[in-house]
Amino acid sequence: MRTIFHNIGSLQTMNDNSSITIGKSIVVKDNRIESIVESIEEFESSDAKLVDVGGRAIVPGFIDAHNHLIWAGDRFNEHNLRMQGHSYSEIAGMGGGIMQTVTSTRGRSDKELLSIGRTRLSEALRNGTTFVEAKSGYGLSTEHELRLLSVVNQLKSEKNLPSIHSTWMGAHAVTPDQTYESYTEEILSEQLPAVLDSRLAESADVFCEPGWFSIEQSEDILRASRRGGLDLRMHVDEFVDGGGGELAAELNVMTADHAHHTPMEVRIAMKEAGVITGFLPGTPYFNGDQWPDFNAVQEMAIPFSMATDFNPNCYTNSIPFIGSLAVQRNGMSPYDALYCVTRHAALSTPRSDRIEHGVIKEGAIANFNILKSRHWESWCMSPSNSPVHSICLEGEYIEF
Ligand code: NIG
Ligand code: FE
Repeated sequence: MRTIFHNIGSLQTMNDNSSITIGKSIVVKDNRIESIVESIEEFESSDAKLVDVGGRAIVPGFIDAHNHLIWAGDRFNEHNLRMQGHSYSEIAGMGGGIMQTVTSTRGRSDKELLSIGRTRLSEALRNGTTFVEAKSGYGLSTEHELRLLSVVNQLKSEKNLPSIHSTWMGAHAVTPDQTYESYTEEILSEQLPAVLDSRLAESADVFCEPGWFSIEQSEDILRASRRGGLDLRMHVDEFVDGGGGELAAELNVMTADHAHHTPMEVRIAMKEAGVITGFLPGTPYFNGDQWPDFNAVQEMAIPFSMATDFNPNCYTNSIPFIGSLAVQRNGMSPYDALYCVTRHAALSTPRSDRIEHGVIKEGAIANFNILKSRHWESWCMSPSNSPVHSICLEGEYIEF
């Protein structure tokens, strides 16, 4: 079955050789892009379905390469504490933060968590996300981490939602009855083997930051995860330079995220090791932390992605909002910002079937956004309203 998308205002393919094209049409066959053609004449008498996009612009589907999808409750009350000058770690020390969310998440049934996850994925899709990396990490015991992973995996099979890469993040924090030493032991001897047996996770992630998992604990967990066949991701240098970036380079992890305090020489070492840096500007936006500067990183041609970091402390599932932060507050161009949430995000978060995504070209998965505007730059220019008119999701045309 073929579908032809024509009458495109501007087509931003993100394909390096032919980035912006005017007047071409996209031919979709099953779940892939078959070709990009000059004329649709040859299809007019065929049984192909023609979709007139009304002069609107088209960009690739966004890839959200860092998302803590499944948790319950909220922590909006913590904003008062931030206004009184309390830091993220102080709020966690007062019983807020991740632990508060673990308690509210453990109290919900699988069915409730499934419905929460479904709603969030629909919001993400409405905002143009066609692929999401979804972490566990609010269970913090073998039983509850497996439960969260299983919810993520049930969502994988549902229709009309973004596709999912599932990440186990049991090493996110510790419950009050444990120390980081005892919990790391438990992860290595019990939780990780159970996760591997379950085959519910594709990646492992660790919150490697002073006050959370140490360099040694992170290394032990990550090496064991790699031996078990998982891809590796890290949270590093979010609040201070804690040496996480160096470990990321040493282990050649797929992506080292936050990384706002990583020194330049370590960023270069990460680049040389093939590690993508994952910037998450939503987090300093919500925390009121020092604003990251991406200029030096761009000048050094260090490849970086951007993602939502959706979590109770960063409540957004909108990639266009993240793009808007980068464009309006960092002076990044809409093109460079789009590269971060498509091409670079695809490098850190490939599809498990290895079909190319984050780009509109022959053979790639047919994931693209038809924008409300005829200008492709509009993707990041309306942060409080979705810029997306309709979507082609793995070959299916979805109108909102
Ligand atoms: O990436 N920093 C660690 N994890 C999350 C926050 C989790 C939370 O506060 O609930 C993040 O920002
Ligand atoms: Fe995160």
